[in-house]
Amino acid sequence: MSNILILQSSPRAKGSTAWMAEEFQKAAEAAGHTVTLVNVAHKKIAGCLACEYCHTKGEGTCIQKDDMQELYPLIKEAEVLVLATPIYYFTFNAQLQAPLQRVYNMMTPPKVKKMALLLSSHSPGVYDAAISEYKYLCGFFKAEDGGVVTAKVDEQKTDETRRNIEMVVSNL
Ligand SMILES: Cc1cc2nc3c(=O)[nH]c(=O)nc-3n(C[C@H](O)[C@H](O)[C@H](O)COP(=O)(O)O)c2cc1C
Repeated sequence: MSNILILQSSPRAKGSTAWMAEEFQKAAEAAGHTVTLVNVAHKKIAGCLACEYCHTKGEGTCIQKDDMQELYPLIKEAEVLVLATPIYYFTFNAQLQAPLQRVYNMMTPPKVKKMALLLSSHSPGVYDAAISEYKYLCGFFKAEDGGVVTAKVDEQKTDETRRNIEMVVSNL
């Protein structure tokens, strides 16, 4: 059984991305995994300053003392990292990019062995950039791609999307 961290980045608490993340959590907990779900859109997380403090004097710690400090221990302990984001202008939204780029201090989350991606959008066929970034991240973190689930407007909060999520969870 794995320690799963879901980073959900929609500011809409009752939107499609939040639903996908919650369905993932329910299925994973039912299977016996431990799940932490964080809405990063509701946190104060600034972009990386590129100051290199973490790689010099900071010895791995970030100079910015914002809500990312709560996330660092969770990311450090996560064995499965799930990214859940609405598509904004054909890619991850800014609320997800900020915490991902703030992992610069540790470069790779040390225990993450598997990742998964949940995407919500209005239109079909808008996922290439997000999936490409996700796959690069899997490679960079040396994590296996556990699966991608997408939901355009007519697929949101449907039984089929729930089943697709459950399929990803069953392969963890
Ligand atoms: C700033 C912004 C940019 C968006 N850009 C896209 C886009 O490029 N392609 C698309 O299909 N939908 C786009 N959308 C629509 C959202 O991806 C879509 O409504 C999604 O289901 C929202 O998920 P949520 O309810 O979980 O927030 C955009 C929405 C916003 C607010």
